[in-house]
Amino acid sequence: MDDTPSRLPTALPALRSKAREAGFIMSSEDRTGSLLAALAAARPSARILELGTGVGEGTAWLLSGMDPDSCLTTVELDPALQVFAQEQLGADPRVTFVSGDGGAWLEDFDGAPFDLVFADTWPGKFTHLDEALDLVAPGGTYLIDDLFPQPGWPEGHEASVKRLLAELDEREGFRCVRLAWASGLLMAVRTA
Ligand SMILES: C[S@@+](CC[C@H](N)C(=O)[O-])C[C@H]1O[C@@H](n2cnc3c(N)ncnc32)[C@H](O)[C@@H]1O
Repeated sequence: MDDTPSRLPTALPALRSKAREAGFIMSSEDRTGSLLAALAAARPSARILELGTGVGEGTAWLLSGMDPDSCLTTVELDPALQVFAQEQLGADPRVTFVSGDGGAWLEDFDGAPFDLVFADTWPGKFTHLDEALDLVAPGGTYLIDDLFPQPGWPEGHEASVKRLLAELDEREGFRCVRLAWASGLLMAVRTA
């Protein structure tokens, strides 16, 4: 089986070209994107959170799977990256862009929980894990990627990834599945 996705979001080529120009190499790969779209499509009227917009490739995948009544909040520290996503995707009323630190956002947010949390940066994954998991609605999904060694990982990061995986596996109220696929994924579904 060839697992290369064939249905790509329409904004993807433009976002990729901006990523290339900016030298940004951290966008989600297409297989991960196709999973994001499928998870978004599984939830009519979903509330979705992405931590780390980058240039917006994951955002585009999520939007491509979402129904008209779903909404997505995406948080990014670097406005020079997020502007590309805003240019390509900002006309879509389902998406809200937040510019700022994801950790501060997680500490301050007091709205309704999310059906899907894609934690694709440090806060919500290696810091502020409790805050991010607290925001997952019952039956909702927490998804992380880049669990296989990636270019640019800081010294000792592999040990942090191992600790994170063990912590998630043992977490009460979640069922986890590790996917040794794409960049290495873990999906945790809230059971209670
Ligand atoms: C792996 S990339 C995100 C890729 C994107 N989600 C996608 O699917 O294409 C991680 C992003 O997190 C951003 N970032 C780093 N520290 C952050 C923080 N403290 N708060 C929010 N975003 C942060 C980086 O600037 C980078 O754009």
